[in-house]
Amino acid sequence: MKEQLLELEERALKEIAAVDDPAELENFRIKYLGKKGQLTSIMKNVGGLPPDERPKIGKFANLVKTNLSKRFGEAKDSLLSGKVSRDGFIDVTLPGKEPIIGHLHPITSVIKEVCQIFSRMGFRVVKGPNVELDYYNFEALNIPKDHPARDMQDTFYISDNVVLRTHTSPIQVRVMETRQPPVSVIAPGKVYRRDSDVSHTPMFHQVEGLLVDKNVSFGDLKGTLTSFVHQMFGSDTELRFRPSFFPFTEPSAEVDILCVLCGGKGCRTCSQTGWLEILGSGMVDPEVYRFVDYDADVYSGFAFGMGIERIAMLKYGIDDIQLFFKNDMRFLRQF
Ligand code: FA5
Ligand code: MG
Repeated sequence: MKEQLLELEERALKEIAAVDDPAELENFRIKYLGKKGQLTSIMKNVGGLPPDERPKIGKFANLVKTNLSKRFGEAKDSLLSGKVSRDGFIDVTLPGKEPIIGHLHPITSVIKEVCQIFSRMGFRVVKGPNVELDYYNFEALNIPKDHPARDMQDTFYISDNVVLRTHTSPIQVRVMETRQPPVSVIAPGKVYRRDSDVSHTPMFHQVEGLLVDKNVSFGDLKGTLTSFVHQMFGSDTELRFRPSFFPFTEPSAEVDILCVLCGGKGCRTCSQTGWLEILGSGMVDPEVYRFVDYDADVYSGFAFGMGIERIAMLKYGIDDIQLFFKNDMRFLRQF
């Protein structure tokens, strides 16, 4: 019986050390010290022991009881005077718990920044649908059904004539259909392509730009985009206009900036070239004006479309595009 008492005492002391709320403390009292408690039931058996053992064990049992009662009292005192408890005892001198405050996703803040820069230059922000007609995504951009340029963008088809837009360029057509020049708009949004690796994701973001007026030249395009790059990445950032092809612009150019990760020496992110493509651009092809009834003899304009993830990767020095969409708090908290 002595072993039984020792074991019970050890167990009870361990348990009470972990108690941190009044309800648990009361459970402890009932379990060990109450009328039907474990200690009480052991003590009831003392009477059945041989007479010579009775006093010794009885005395020991009383010691255990005193000890546990004392610890119970101490625990109660410290709970009542102490810390915040679930029962509403509050120590107003304790420091508060800081609430977790969220913040914008890095992609969202880069989109905002891009739109702000162009808004200051007089562009207006517009939107267009994510699920788009083939007509706006391809046809009216001078990409007929069997045109090989359709292979440049792996398309998700909803039906024969409906797609998830592969770029933000269909918004150009929608804007020109409803407004006469001069127009200057910027259009951010999600786009979709069947593509996935360290620099490609099946959904990513673009910002489209379009400006049409009288006497708009390629010089205006270069000036506008150079100013943008300098505001976004700093005024000493090197950029280059590289001749390219898009069915809806002529001439076309892609803009590269000197790789910010290796400073132009060549690394994994820039495929050892020292340069990183951030956008496609060009003078709006007169063929496109035919679809929207603009007079190509009177008006000219430029358009561009940039990849937001690309820009965010360069701005923050990130070498894997997939990180933006993994929802890993260790990554997101850094912004
Ligand atoms: C276009 O989408 C054209 N609509 C751009 C354009 C607009 C040209 C207006 C002329 C006039 P491109 O497929 O190259 O072009 O994509 C543009 C940018 O989107 C690229 O420079 C790149 O930054 C980004 N991008 C393209 N594919 C992906 C992808 N799978 N993941 C992440 N970013 C991508
Ligand atoms: Mg490209």
